[in-house]
Amino acid sequence: MTQFEKSRWADDDFARNFRDEAEIYLPFRRQFMAMAISFYGHFLTQASAARVLDLGCGDGLFMAELSRSFPPAQATLVDGSAAMLAAAEKRLGTRENIHYLLASFQELLSHDPITTDFDFIHSSLAIHHLPLAEKKRLYAYIYRHLAPGGCFVHHDVVLPPSDKLEKWYLSVWRQWIREHPDAARREKLLTIPDQYKGNPDNVPDTLAAQLAALQEIGFHDVDCYGKWGIFALFGGSR
Ligand SMILES: C[S@@+](CC[C@H](N)C(=O)[O-])C[C@H]1O[C@@H](n2cnc3c(N)ncnc32)[C@H](O)[C@@H]1O
Repeated sequence: MTQFEKSRWADDDFARNFRDEAEIYLPFRRQFMAMAISFYGHFLTQASAARVLDLGCGDGLFMAELSRSFPPAQATLVDGSAAMLAAAEKRLGTRENIHYLLASFQELLSHDPITTDFDFIHSSLAIHHLPLAEKKRLYAYIYRHLAPGGCFVHHDVVLPPSDKLEKWYLSVWRQWIREHPDAARREKLLTIPDQYKGNPDNVPDTLAAQLAALQEIGFHDVDCYGKWGIFALFGGSR
């Protein structure tokens, strides 16, 4: 199995750079989040009683945004980086119904410390660091931790089905960064799509392979709920 400690996310400076700059280089991040929250509001019949898990929560932005519309009854935030979890706790505060768990996905798979089920499991921009075999194991783990009727919504980068499509998607991503109003920072951030491609920690798989994996595990309503270039929102329900 791969190891979180060997990835760049184990480096606090790398994690801090993401927190500082993600808003400028991640296309339509807020819109993807809004779609995931809309999914939640539409499909969770008892949203106020819901137990929510965020895998690779980063600094807790998704849980904070979700809580503004639909405060969950219980929120569990998992990340392999202590610095990220500390930033999440700073954002969301210390409350009885919010649980912070420092654990890598690999640790969840090898000795699962989570004993509860969830009505909604979210993950954004974290699972693409796992090779396909481990993604499949994590998707099966997610399925096992969903209560009947529970949903999994995943926002992540995916591997385009051909090189020529990938070249185009990376060029529209660069264009998106180029149009960002923060001119001073965008020049530096224009290198992000190439850094993304060159970083061996990033092992995205095609959307088709991941949707097929979800279906094989038993998820229902498996679909891509939104897509822009290499960024996709997809998932399924139990
Ligand atoms: C790009 S950030 C995304 C953070 C947050 N989900 C967001 O969308 O703002 C990726 C996060 O996943 C975490 N992460 C990456 N690989 C992980 C792993 N194998 N196990 C646990 N967390 C991981 C990193 O520490 C980081 O906080």
